[in-house]
Amino acid sequence: MPSEPPRSPAQISNTSGDAVAQAIAKYSAGLPALVAPTTESRPSRFIVLLTGSTGNVGAHLLAFLLTHPQVARVYAYNRPSSSNACILDRQNLQCTAHGLDHGLLSSKKLVFLEGNLHAAQLGLQRHEYDELLAQVNLVIHNAWHANFTLSLPDYEPLIAGSRNLIDFARASRQCSDSLRFVFVSSIVSVYSWKHPGIPVPEVPLSDPAVALGMGYGESKYVVERILLNSGLRSSTIRVAQLVGGRRTGCWDTSELIPNLIRTSIAVGAIGNPNALIPWVTVPDAARVILDDALAESFTGANVYNLEHPRPVSFSALVDYFNDALVHQGILLSPLSVVPTRDWIPMLQKTITRAGVPTPESASKTTALFVWGLRSTRIENPRLADLPALQMDKLLSRSVTLAKLIPLEAEDVARWVEYWVGIGFLERCSLPSHQQAGGRSKL
Ligand SMILES: NC(=O)c1ccc[n+]([C@@H]2O[C@H](COP(=O)([O-])OP(=O)(O)OC[C@H]3O[C@@H](n4cnc5c(N)ncnc54)[C@H](OP(=O)(O)O)[C@@H]3O)[C@@H](O)[C@H]2O)c1
Repeated sequence: MPSEPPRSPAQISNTSGDAVAQAIAKYSAGLPALVAPTTESRPSRFIVLLTGSTGNVGAHLLAFLLTHPQVARVYAYNRPSSSNACILDRQNLQCTAHGLDHGLLSSKKLVFLEGNLHAAQLGLQRHEYDELLAQVNLVIHNAWHANFTLSLPDYEPLIAGSRNLIDFARASRQCSDSLRFVFVSSIVSVYSWKHPGIPVPEVPLSDPAVALGMGYGESKYVVERILLNSGLRSSTIRVAQLVGGRRTGCWDTSELIPNLIRTSIAVGAIGNPNALIPWVTVPDAARVILDDALAESFTGANVYNLEHPRPVSFSALVDYFNDALVHQGILLSPLSVVPTRDWIPMLQKTITRAGVPTPESASKTTALFVWGLRSTRIENPRLADLPALQMDKLLSRSVTLAKLIPLEAEDVARWVEYWVGIGFLERCSLPSHQQAGGRSKL
């Protein structure tokens, strides 16, 4: 059992609004007050600098860009591997995980680059940097490290790196004419929106307090504001929770929800927060981002919100999960569905029975406590208390978003199948009466 009571969201980060404002000021220093160009010439072909192509969203962005007829070249820019794996192997792994076409990686349009965002010249050779300065007319800044336990100072290298990328864009030959800068942000950057019942608008929010709660969201907010100060023609897209796509169901098991499902199997029950779930699949999110990035018109400095326009109820998803878990032989009978406030003591009991959890499962469990406690506030029907988002602007820009179909049983079946395939969930051979109270592995 965790030795400390679960921290309330406000305690996850102790950052103040002043600290966020100071970070914005520090990393906006020297940005003359340019006005974002209102006239534009749409490039006849796009030459793209994409950061973080080795990630889940990045792999889809890369694949879709490489197949787009108006994209002439993609510079896939990544940090060096932590394991000495070569970039092609890393990218191939993502193709396999997501069912993307490996053949695309031999496209003549694709140029891999490795560097450190926060280094001078983005850590590139002078000739590489000069080539980018001369060629690139679309920057998609997608690379980020999502860790809800880090503080704002932990994110300084990524913030400094984002400023470097903004400086690059401002210095590029295409800057005044046609350059577009798209920043993939997160709904967590508006985590502390304080107007219940009013969805977060698709406009810049000047009060840094809106971002407080987690260093991750605070850092995204800081970059959104630096970008707005940069005078670049830009989009910041605040993205909600992303989930595995239909092809392989690949949904990263380091994330909260896969762990919620695994833990609920251990508990033998799942909490129902009575929430509406606006999750979007990774491939759909990548398409929406590109609908914006490659749109006919791209003027000014914009902020958009991206979540599912047709959310489904958590209880419908639980039914789908139960069906899939039973179908895959993970459970012989469905998980019971209990109010979240009843689920938390059940979780505590299971942890006690299972012994001291590993640091990894302890931190996941802490996150689950936070999730569970916040979700007991059922007067706000949003999972984990995240605010509702306005989306009119992005809906009018993205056909993909406007036409998104709600998540279905098939989506959930694919996630479960994927988790079984990689050994994250184990099939159960116990007769159902021995499963009462759940299985103890966390
Ligand atoms: N997934 C979601 O539910 C979700 C929701 C809202 C917003 N977003 C945003 O969407 C974007 C993509 O997310 P994702 O789910 O695809 O993440 P992901 O799978 O973890 O991929 C992240 C990418 O960023 C790179 N990266 C991580 N830390 C970095 C650093 N310090 N310096 C340079 N590169 C770094 C990773 O490189 P390595 O391969 O070397 O690790 C990888 O290419 C992120 O900006 C994220 O904040 C995601």
